[in-house]
Amino acid sequence: MSGTFPNISISTERLVLRPLDEDDVPALAEMMNDEQVGAWTDVPQPYTADQARDWITRYAPAEREAGRGLDLAVTEFLTQRLVGIVQLARTNWHIRSTELSYIIAPWARGEGYASEAALATAQWLFNDQKLERIELRTAADNTASQQVAQKIGCISEGVLRNACIAHVRADDGTWSDVRTDFIVWSLLPEDLDGAGGQLADSGGFTTYPDWN
Ligand SMILES: CC(C)(COP(=O)(O)OP(=O)(O)OC[C@H]1O[C@@H](n2cnc3c(N)ncnc32)[C@H](O)[C@@H]1OP(=O)(O)O)[C@@H](O)C(=O)NCCC(=O)NCCS
Repeated sequence: MSGTFPNISISTERLVLRPLDEDDVPALAEMMNDEQVGAWTDVPQPYTADQARDWITRYAPAEREAGRGLDLAVTEFLTQRLVGIVQLARTNWHIRSTELSYIIAPWARGEGYASEAALATAQWLFNDQKLERIELRTAADNTASQQVAQKIGCISEGVLRNACIAHVRADDGTWSDVRTDFIVWSLLPEDLDGAGGQLADSGGFTTYPDWN
């Protein structure tokens, strides 16, 4: 069974999640050049505007069209500023499962944006796309990301030993790989009746199909 995600926009109390646009290039490039992004994701450092453009215009549309995933810009409803991204990847339409990850710009962290964006995406995936499983993988020492997973009601399933390559920056500014463990988290439709439910009730979401 195959499928593709539609081009949609998801609104929460404070955020609008929508497809990435070429206008997002400068803000995307800026937020990716960050210590935490360098440490915990595979985003290359430094990250150039050309790489951001390539991701927005080529990689993200190809992922969506192949049915593998979806890349969403997370923007502030009031200011329309880009505050982060939510990424769905390795979607399996037979199992009806997908992997979810998030990055929030350094200046916008600690406001609950990652949790709000991830939860609204999860609700949309379960209610609208009829997915049955969302998986998150967090590097063993990525406390902030684990807090987000826990806050939205994910269950920690175990450890993938040695499965993660994180990155450390030396004093001279160069990055090198360090091997570590992944913690695997999952969210099922029924989990949203639990811990994430409270956040969900206060937030809620609306979708606008056929965004263009
Ligand atoms: C992980 C990330 C997306 C969180 O974004 P955010 O919008 O700040 O997340 P939220 O505000 O929704 O929640 C963050 C939670 O982590 C906590 N937190 C943040 N930094 C922390 C730290 N260094 N140690 C412990 N807890 C931390 C916050 O207190 C908050 O929990 P609380 O609401 O219980 O207080 C952001 O830090 C980021 O972009 N990191 C780099 C990329 C990354 O690691 N992505 C995840 C890959 S799996």
